[in-house]
Amino acid sequence: MTLHFTHLTSEQREIQQAARDFARAELAPYTAQWDRDAYFEPALVQKLGELGLLGMLVPETFDGLGLDTLTYLVALEEIAVVDASVAVMVSVHNSLPTQMILRWGSDEQKERYLRPLARGEKLGAFALSEPDAGSDAAALTTQAVRDGECWVLNGTKAWVSSGTHAGVIIAMARTDRADHRRGPRGISSFIVTPDMPGFRVGKKEDKMGLRASPTVQLVFDNLRVPAANLLGEEGHGFSYAMQSLDNGRLGIAAQAIGIARAALEHSLAYAAERRQFGQAIADFEAIQFKLADMAKNVAASRALLHATAAVKDRGDPVTLPAAMSKLLASETAMSATREAVQIFGGYGYVTDYPVERLFRDAKVTEIYEGTSEIQRVVIARQLYATSGSATHVI
Ligand code: CAA
Repeated sequence: MTLHFTHLTSEQREIQQAARDFARAELAPYTAQWDRDAYFEPALVQKLGELGLLGMLVPETFDGLGLDTLTYLVALEEIAVVDASVAVMVSVHNSLPTQMILRWGSDEQKERYLRPLARGEKLGAFALSEPDAGSDAAALTTQAVRDGECWVLNGTKAWVSSGTHAGVIIAMARTDRADHRRGPRGISSFIVTPDMPGFRVGKKEDKMGLRASPTVQLVFDNLRVPAANLLGEEGHGFSYAMQSLDNGRLGIAAQAIGIARAALEHSLAYAAERRQFGQAIADFEAIQFKLADMAKNVAASRALLHATAAVKDRGDPVTLPAAMSKLLASETAMSATREAVQIFGGYGYVTDYPVERLFRDAKVTEIYEGTSEIQRVVIARQLYATSGSATHVI
């Protein structure tokens, strides 16, 4: 039985298998413990790097694997099935900082920052949100003021995944004057490294799920960023962040599908084994219907995501299908893990079995890289964007 309806070439299947083997050997034995201890294993960065999993979308000329989007998402799903915390690290790194430098970086920035990111010598992070600027990302107030050959940044970035261990961070800050804000148009992107004077890792969040992925605040206290580290054009940072999040949301959708698939796989095995009223609970229609819905939702989410990957690789805009993919996949992750806990009953509510962790991990996929409500906003705006009339796009 397979729910994988996308044709994969033999090369794509090889990468999928390599990611699966890695996840089973290097992650599966430790996932539960890392979750309990909220522990991030730094050695993973090098191991992922050696396999090329931190440079999946970077061309070979810059030391990456140069994969297409579908192959990247298929590999990411294999990691997420086993460890969603590691999956978000891999997704953010591949989709956001590396892609931003690849797309908008200067030749010098690519040499200096993209190569080490692609080789896995440095981990990447993305710093857009702030304590008072979450869904309303354009409300960010971190200020960047030019001072000779530097920009001086002041402010606090929030919810930064992998922020404790990141060697390269793309941070968004206002380069318009505080008394003369131009909203999204006054925001620029900077390449920040932790050795820059004025950089500090702030509060580490104590999270419900994805506990092995460190999420922190980053405090910029007169942070001096060389002028050469402005990414792309001044004032274009918000647009860069939004375009990058279109790609990031594909990674989060793959992560959510991995979580849902894990919930389904564990539920299928448990329901076949667990006996009540003299028969396996898989023989009850109430359980069969849950399993059927979980399988249908995984297959539908995956099909939409893979179709979106093809749209992206054709070079067409993905804002609409990426928002749809992320929305559908995260709802699938949440419903599948909820039903998995139900199928396991009391055993689903305790830490002896993995489904309670999956349930906790699933929730954030409905929150980060744009909440489900924001995905609906993006979808609704896109429906009218083409022609001003919704019927034309349908
Ligand atoms: N592609 C290209 N440009 C885009 C764009 C896109 N997808 N979305 C917006 N823009 C451009 C617009 O065209 C507009 O440009 P002009 O000013 O030139 O016209 C500009 O950006 C402003 O756009 P909006 O007017 O639509 O801006 P808005 O303030 O209404 O915000 C929003 C739109 C969709 C709500 C946006 O704020 C948003 O996506 N919010 C959610 C933020 C988010 O996803 N945060 C995730 C943080 S990262 C994370 O979670 C990290 C992690 O580590 C896992």
